[in-house]
Amino acid sequence: MSHHLVAVKDLYYAYPDGTEALHDVSFRIEHGEAVALVGANGAGKSTLLLHLNGTLPTMRGEVVVGDTVVTRETAVLARRAIGMVFQDPDDQLFMPTVAEDVAFGPLNAGLPPDQVERRVATALDRVGMAHLQGRPPYRLSAGEKRAVAIATVLAMAPDILVMDEPSANLDPRARRRLIELLRSFGHTRVIATHDLELVVAVCSRVIVLDGGRVVADGPARTILDDEDLMLAHGLERPHSLRHLHPH
Ligand SMILES: Nc1ncnc2c1ncn2[C@@H]1O[C@H](COP(=O)(O)OP(=O)(O)O)[C@@H](O)[C@H]1O
Ligand SMILES: [Mg+2]
Repeated sequence: MSHHLVAVKDLYYAYPDGTEALHDVSFRIEHGEAVALVGANGAGKSTLLLHLNGTLPTMRGEVVVGDTVVTRETAVLARRAIGMVFQDPDDQLFMPTVAEDVAFGPLNAGLPPDQVERRVATALDRVGMAHLQGRPPYRLSAGEKRAVAIATVLAMAPDILVMDEPSANLDPRARRRLIELLRSFGHTRVIATHDLELVVAVCSRVIVLDGGRVVADGPARTILDDEDLMLAHGLERPHSLRHLHPH
């Protein structure tokens, strides 16, 4: 993959029961950008993310990752480029131990055991969870599970990180650690979240979805600081920005 852009063009999607979840969604994300996807519950954030790696098939429109148009046939390539952290870590962790979960992807990709071992150690170290490698994932706290889920994705060395509500259910310390981790990545990042303080800290750009449509796309501070826009789409202006501009 020569460059790591993500381009979505006129994407439309309706679920099998007829619920229309995306309408003519278009945007382009360049290499290294950190982009937040915000919007009220049901706005279409998860549906959109699931199109980026072909988990949901493109019904109408186009999704391009790097040089690849994502289709049923090429979804495997998109999945190699895009590391997806699902909203629920329990969807991502299923092996008897943390180390086996983190090793699962690299082993499946056919990496030799010594390289797998190195990837596991590096990924767990990166998220501060090396001490948990022998533990069963289902016994971990929500924050630990989230961190390990991120490690399973990092171990695959993806070009692009996609996360669905990564700070949900985290205590303040785990959330701060997550924010620092996300800030430290040079990856292209696409983060669907209700956590607007995380957006302020991590993302340079915000895309606002409402009713499956893109209603705003621009610099994070400009968009988040626009109280009328935020309120009109079921969101609110983050407190940290209020402190910057006291009335
Ligand atoms: N499996 C599904 N079947 C039918 N409708 C769904 C399904 N998943 C989500 N939806 C609907 O699609 C719309 C977008 O949902 P979703 O992408 O989950 O929004 P968000 O992640 O922004 O909360 C909502 O109206 C939701 O009810
Ligand atoms: Mg969602």
